[in-house]
Amino acid sequence: MRKKLVAGNWKMHGSLTENAALLAAIKPALDGIEAAVCVPFPYLAQVQASLAGSSISWGAQNVSEQAKGAFTGEVSTAMLRDFGCEYVIVGHSERRSLYGESDELVARKYMAAQAAGLTPILCVGESLSEREGGVTEAVVARQLDAVIAAAGVASLASAVVAYEPVWAIGTGKTATPEQAQAVHAFIRRKLAALDANVAERLIIQYGGSVKAANAAELMAQPDIDGGLIGGASLIADEFIAICRAAAK
Ligand code: 13P
Repeated sequence: MRKKLVAGNWKMHGSLTENAALLAAIKPALDGIEAAVCVPFPYLAQVQASLAGSSISWGAQNVSEQAKGAFTGEVSTAMLRDFGCEYVIVGHSERRSLYGESDELVARKYMAAQAAGLTPILCVGESLSEREGGVTEAVVARQLDAVIAAAGVASLASAVVAYEPVWAIGTGKTATPEQAQAVHAFIRRKLAALDANVAERLIIQYGGSVKAANAAELMAQPDIDGGLIGGASLIADEFIAICRAAAK
């Protein structure tokens, strides 16, 4: 049986004060439940101090593909390890679309993360026009193939994949459980053709307007193994309820 994993993606939200209140609420409520939060770089020290020894892991939302050197403004995998990160999100659609990250760059970040012992949460997903154009599977396959070509299918044994349809992110428009399940099953089938064992064990999260009210039916789908949660991860009661729904 695969375990389920819910991760919060705080995006560019929070402050020392707001984070302290959020962490103080979620930590005791999620005692014993495995979950994660991916926070802005400046707050890694705060979450490390707060969450060390708890069942909640933490990580970042982006990382450099370079190891070190003259790369102004970048943050390396070793720096994330310094702050106890377990996870790093790579290839989020906001990085792909707003910051021009290509499939190949995402694959390099994925490999850098794994080389440093971080677990990449690899985001894939189609835009609204791609869905309407009937190329959802082709887009998701292309995004996965870039990583498989660079790192090999076996690398997915140490990764998490998050399916995030771009049209469902921050829009309040969740994919129906059936729509999400169909793409999750496609991803698992595609990988199973290359390595059945890796495919069977891979955690595939769903992301896009997940909230307490829709979490249970999404998590009940056979190929949905947790969630990557944006807006609702900033609201303690919402995040707690989603994590509990996944843990059931
Ligand atoms: P929302 O949950 O706010 O739609 O964001 C999803 C997301 O992008 C998580 O990475």
